[in-house]
Amino acid sequence: MYLEWNDQYSVQVKKFNAQHKDMLQIINAIHDELLGNNRRETQIQLLDKLTLNTMNHFSDEEQALHEINYSEILDHMDEHLNLLQELHDLKTDYMNNRIDISEELVGFLANWLIVHIEDMDKQYIPLMRDE
Ligand SMILES: [Fe+2]
Ligand SMILES: [Fe+2]
Repeated sequence: MYLEWNDQYSVQVKKFNAQHKDMLQIINAIHDELLGNNRRETQIQLLDKLTLNTMNHFSDEEQALHEINYSEILDHMDEHLNLLQELHDLKTDYMNNRIDISEELVGFLANWLIVHIEDMDKQYIPLMRDE
């Protein structure tokens, strides 16, 4: 376990907390694999899984923001797009042997997720909270 889920990351929406936790769990699995066998195939599978989960999560979140006529939705969607692009670039660089999976890279991914939750997702709490 690299970075444990902390209740301070909660966006107070059950479904999105669960999705965020799943994403963090995949990042932790990348870290575990790095410290273990660090098999290339497994790392690529995990990066693919993270990409898929992230796409589904962003899509669900954007749908929910749309349904409540969230005024900052365009900025939020823009940031989702940037994050997906970063993940895509990282995966492409790894697949083309331009970078290695390292502690630094896992730290980047943990930050990539947590900073977005803290800076942007938490802003919808008052409008969406269900727990
Ligand atoms: Fe978001
Ligand atoms: Fe989110």
